[in-house]
Amino acid sequence: MPLATTASIVASAHGGACAFNIITLEHAEAVVVAAGREGIPVILQISENAVRFRLGRPHPLAAAARALAEAAPVPVALHLDHVTGDALLYEAAEAGFGSVMYDASRDPYETNLTRTEAAARWAHENGLWLEAELGEVGGKDGAHAPGARTDPAEAAAFVAATGVDALAVAVGSSHAMTSRSARLDHDLIAALRAALPASVPLVLHGSSGVPDDELRRAVAAGIKKINIGTALNVAFTGTLRDSFAAESSGADPRARLEAAREAMATETAHLLRVVSGRD
Ligand code: G3H
Ligand code: ZN
Repeated sequence: MPLATTASIVASAHGGACAFNIITLEHAEAVVVAAGREGIPVILQISENAVRFRLGRPHPLAAAARALAEAAPVPVALHLDHVTGDALLYEAAEAGFGSVMYDASRDPYETNLTRTEAAARWAHENGLWLEAELGEVGGKDGAHAPGARTDPAEAAAFVAATGVDALAVAVGSSHAMTSRSARLDHDLIAALRAALPASVPLVLHGSSGVPDDELRRAVAAGIKKINIGTALNVAFTGTLRDSFAAESSGADPRARLEAAREAMATETAHLLRVVSGRD
């Protein structure tokens, strides 16, 4: 089926919609296989960081992800995540992405607003759905800062002034956590949901560190798009580590990568069930 849009997957999700960060082809395959097995639509996202790892070009991995998405038995969308520079934003549509997260959250409020408003205007003129962030979710540089919070009144003003399609909010999660121990501020999620237009979904970043039950409560309180990256890497790297510990000889990587891909698919399927309310 043709590539789906992030907007349609988020709008039609039962419960919440999962957006998984992919770095390698195996990540993309694992997510698409799991979504097909579960019969649940999914968003594949590639971050600016991952683009840097892929030799600075978004096109090759995006093209592979798109080919997998078009062959999938469920709707799959392609999203460009955590874009901090305008040059990459301007490449998004041509590289095949239907949506972008523009991240000026490290800037002071007024700068974030000005940059995001310009990014949203450009995105809309070029057929892209734009997510922004207000109230920095910590952990992007390895330093966990779960203390930051998004203010509901400020969020309402920010959304009205910028015209963004979705808003990532700081409610207690933190990027790159390898243990699932984050506690979210569910009252704040409800207050943010009440403060923003119903047409603007709330996005949770750093969801790998959030336990299953906290994810279920977050969706019930109003989070709609759930971003997950590190949990896949934990499954992938853990399986490779076990494989090398059990057998360190041999040159062909395929058996190890196959096991690591399957571990990511198992983790992806579990999270899809939790976030969609099936488990
Ligand atoms: O935008 C990406 C996500 O926020 C992923 O965060 O790697 O901590 O799950 P995570
Ligand atoms: Zn994020």
